[in-house]
Amino acid sequence: MEKTIIFTCILLLSTCTTPAQSKYYGKSSTYKPVKLKKTHLHFFLHDVLSGAKPTAVRIAGPRTLMSFGSVYAIDDVLTEGPEATSGVVGNAQGMYMSSSQGKNLTLVMYVDLGFTAGKFMGSSLSVFSRNPVMESRRELAVVGGRGRFRRAQGTVFVKTHTVNYTNGDAVLEYDVEIVHP
Ligand SMILES: *[C@@H]1O[C@H](CO)[C@@H](O)[C@H](O)[C@H]1NC(C)=O
Ligand SMILES: *[C@@H]1O[C@H](CO)[C@@H](O)[C@H](O)[C@H]1NC(C)=O
Repeated sequence: MEKTIIFTCILLLSTCTTPAQSKYYGKSSTYKPVKLKKTHLHFFLHDVLSGAKPTAVRIAGPRTLMSFGSVYAIDDVLTEGPEATSGVVGNAQGMYMSSSQGKNLTLVMYVDLGFTAGKFMGSSLSVFSRNPVMESRRELAVVGGRGRFRRAQGTVFVKTHTVNYTNGDAVLEYDVEIVHP
């Protein structure tokens, strides 16, 4: 009697798991490569650590400004021109971390550049890159994007426009060159 029940159970289990019923295997279609567009963007990023309403705040690590291991959360304003009063085109949200034990300050940036004006409003670019800030022109990798920048790839060339070494406030010039569908 018991043996029959066990046998029936095994039979039931095996019919339930037959791969013929499976929806795992999707349909294939012919891959058609899409033409890529090339987009160039130019703007300024305002990184403000001082004052009553900083746009970059230290969230972990040593207290000394930008010393190795410090992590900052940012919501930096992006503008058309270098002045703080210049037209706002978006914001840079994410984090950067002081990543070098050496003398020259290096940051690793994990930042989403989101646009709030013009034809790229609502779209954003994902930057994940080392940023050797002491170099006059550095190169950051754009590894993806959202909205009109979905599957974007490219480079941001960054130059320091102004920096206050006492409080860390800086204005950076961003030159973006990307390709995207
Ligand atoms: C630090 O930066 C300066 C200026 O860019 C450069 O000349 C020097 O070689 C750098 N030092 C190291 C250890 O990378
Ligand atoms: C740099 O920062 C210090 C400390 O906040 C401030 O006293 C000084 O005026 C700033 N310099 C400039 C040029 O803004």
